[in-house]
Amino acid sequence: MCCCIAFCTLQNSAAQKAQANGPRQIISINDGWQFMRYAANPDSLQYDVRPEITDRNDSKVADSKPTEAVKTTASDRVLKPWILPTANDFIKDSTQHYRPPTGNPGSDFPLVQKNFNDGAWETVNLPHDWAIKGPFYTGNNPEVGGGMGRLPSHGVAWYRKKLDIPAADKGKTIYLDIDGAMSYAMVWLNGKLVGGWPYGYNSFRLDLTSYLQFGSSNQLAIRIDNPNHSARWYPGGGLYRNVWLTKVAPVNVAQWGTFVTTNNVSAAAASIDVQVQLENKSGKTQTVAVATAVYLLDSNGVPGRQAALVLPKKTVQVAAGKKVKTNFFATLQNPKLWGPLPVQQPHLYMAVTSLFVDGKMVDRYKTRFGIRSLQFDADKGLLVNGEPVRMQGVNQHHDLGALGAAFNVRAAERQLELLRELGCNAIRMAHNPPAPELLELTDRMGFLVINEIFDNWERKKTPHDFHLIFSDWHEPDTRSFIRRDRNHPSVIAWSFGNEVGEQYTDTAGARLAQKLYSIVKEEDPTRPATASMNYAKPDMPFPAAMDIISLNYQGEGIRDAPAYAHLTGIRTTPLYPAFKAKFPGKLIVSSETASALSTRGTYVFPVYNGISAPVSDSTGGNAVLQVVSAYELYTAAFGSSADKVFASQDRHPYVAGELVWTGWDYLGEPTPYYTARSSYSGIIDLAGFKKDRFYLYQSRWRPELPMAHILPHWNWPGREGQVTPVHVFTSGDEAELFINGRSFGRKKKAQYEYRLRWDSVQYQPGTLRVVAYKGGKIWATDTVKTTGPAAQLQLNADRTIIDADGKDLSFITVKMTDNVGLVVPDAAHPISFTIEGPGEIVATDNGDPADLVAFPSTTRKAFSGLALVIVRGNKGDKGKLKITAQSPGLVPAQIVVQTK
Ligand code: GAL
Repeated sequence: MCCCIAFCTLQNSAAQKAQANGPRQIISINDGWQFMRYAANPDSLQYDVRPEITDRNDSKVADSKPTEAVKTTASDRVLKPWILPTANDFIKDSTQHYRPPTGNPGSDFPLVQKNFNDGAWETVNLPHDWAIKGPFYTGNNPEVGGGMGRLPSHGVAWYRKKLDIPAADKGKTIYLDIDGAMSYAMVWLNGKLVGGWPYGYNSFRLDLTSYLQFGSSNQLAIRIDNPNHSARWYPGGGLYRNVWLTKVAPVNVAQWGTFVTTNNVSAAAASIDVQVQLENKSGKTQTVAVATAVYLLDSNGVPGRQAALVLPKKTVQVAAGKKVKTNFFATLQNPKLWGPLPVQQPHLYMAVTSLFVDGKMVDRYKTRFGIRSLQFDADKGLLVNGEPVRMQGVNQHHDLGALGAAFNVRAAERQLELLRELGCNAIRMAHNPPAPELLELTDRMGFLVINEIFDNWERKKTPHDFHLIFSDWHEPDTRSFIRRDRNHPSVIAWSFGNEVGEQYTDTAGARLAQKLYSIVKEEDPTRPATASMNYAKPDMPFPAAMDIISLNYQGEGIRDAPAYAHLTGIRTTPLYPAFKAKFPGKLIVSSETASALSTRGTYVFPVYNGISAPVSDSTGGNAVLQVVSAYELYTAAFGSSADKVFASQDRHPYVAGELVWTGWDYLGEPTPYYTARSSYSGIIDLAGFKKDRFYLYQSRWRPELPMAHILPHWNWPGREGQVTPVHVFTSGDEAELFINGRSFGRKKKAQYEYRLRWDSVQYQPGTLRVVAYKGGKIWATDTVKTTGPAAQLQLNADRTIIDADGKDLSFITVKMTDNVGLVVPDAAHPISFTIEGPGEIVATDNGDPADLVAFPSTTRKAFSGLALVIVRGNKGDKGKLKITAQSPGLVPAQIVVQTK
């Protein structure tokens, strides 16, 4: 094949799509949008009528029964009939396809017109989340509640951009590809309504060709309408992912038109099946020669010079206006397999598919994929390439803390890096499809992914959530979700629901589950399909519809420990055995465990003497300070501490593993203090600082890593002589605690014990030292000292050289230390930041869920001795960024970050 070696630039990430060579052009149109958000609907347009809000209570616990969907009646301002045709490609039964009504609603509205003057609007670059800059809503009856993060994500906004389309593009087919718009996106081009997509988490495409004026400037206008009360977490608002123009010949590989599957995988050989869907928009039947070659990618994502495999060519007839699928099969010898780190290697390949009409190449399409086998064994758990891999996973929401929902590759990579250090190998995308680039990261970094699409179906959790559009959109959203993500080797399973209300509706709910299950399997028969259950029991019809039994909390038991006895709500004993008995052939995984809560570096006394307790004012909580004690024993009402989950997993070894709720703290859902802004459930706080729990999971997930970690800190003036328990997390099996050189005894972990505790220690200032042992030999040590008062600041950057591309970030940690350099663990002094050089401070944070200072603020109080400042270099402007941190009375600090 002549063309296959010719390309050397690679779409290493979608962000580099613009560099793709060949006849297909993928152009980033992220920069230079005009943006305006309106407090009240400016245009009296809407997708559909929404019900009145009658229930504003956002502190509803996650296991409360959902209420029914509310029926709504449409009025004449509704644009839904013009938007629904965008779904047609994802509706299987063509007799159900939508035809747009006549008319062009909104065309008379000035904001969609070319000559509208948007000069006074804000100029923004995408990805853009309009809400993240705040300010936070405060108080008890806020416009946007704690559940949705107290940020102004609601409202109607318009984005406008001019597109210059050269005359030479005449004859091309030109698509607008939006990776995610939050939400109810509706798109006008040159005053004409083209289409849209309501669900904010799915990617979608619109064909602009017939609306474009070639050799001219075209006006794109996108309306976003983000309802309040639409989510149980922070959704963000706007064009918060990448947006592209894709220019192709009328004969091309259709949207997400390849599906690479691998079979009979071994170290010796693997069968590769490349399915290609061709599209012909040329107006006449075309004879298309299709060639595919496969390249091994190196660790930088660069393809080898020689094809690893050339699949036999095919010639296919495609009638005008039609799509045709064709498959290529071949066997690859000695494949390099994709597998999760650290035990396996995440090797990747790229299939390059070229289309020729009359001997001329008309399209070239690149598909990254991996070769791996998966077995979901009811007794052995997950096997990847024949080797058992215990799932040591976490749930992650889509926000990036102080950066909000606006997707940023480096911020997401940093999240994964810290999770890797934790020993995590699996991520559940809670509860919606991620940015495409996040799956490129999980592929490259070797994480397993459960890719999830819905938090609710017909029954609502919040008044304006997806249930309002479920009936029209469940099929198109499910199909588009799978088609986009099906080539990622990191994706091992599809989840089509999280704790949906249909668990409660017996056979009716199970019928709906079965319907969604069938859609998933039609799109991808190679991966298991599941929905997570916190309520459905083995003898209910709901779990029977699942390939995998995904249990939230009920595996280890809900409210079944003594400290939970007084609570109402779902209560179960550990249900692993009951599910195992009913479904002996199905793999069981805990898709959500723990919901343990804590605030980094804060400790509340007295300390609960058991292993798991619901947080309250007498157990671990302080409602006045809005902190939850980091002794890591306290949980949501339905949750369990890490220790309790570990014991339950170890007692039921056939369970394939767990996905902790959550890896990182996230915006919104600040259980138990809804006057705060962000969650307490992360193992890592919102700023990226490790809570004590980090070391508890690390001690279990990385048993080979010598580590020991002492808590609490040892600055307790006024507690002298009072009981101040000392707990130790270690990958060793025993440890001895010394206080000011005196031994407080050596303790050994008993079976089903995961921490060592010295619960009757009385505080005296000085030095805590622990010596941990494994198999009788010294394994690791840790020391914690009483510090002096805060005297100086220290700055450490995660990276001191970053790209000057307007995207790359440096995350700089500020430590508040005493005069010998020890971090003062309760320091909370105000810090102000300045920057010199070609860059800017994007945001600051400190990980305190109750800190309502807006994220872009350049002053921030330290919290538990730490703060974070995030900086970015200006695009194309190389130089030195000098960042200074100052706090009154303390020695300031400075750091230089080079942009190149
Ligand atoms: C679960 C739910 C999650 C989150 C969590 C909070 O029941 O699936 O989305 O709400 O509880 O602890």
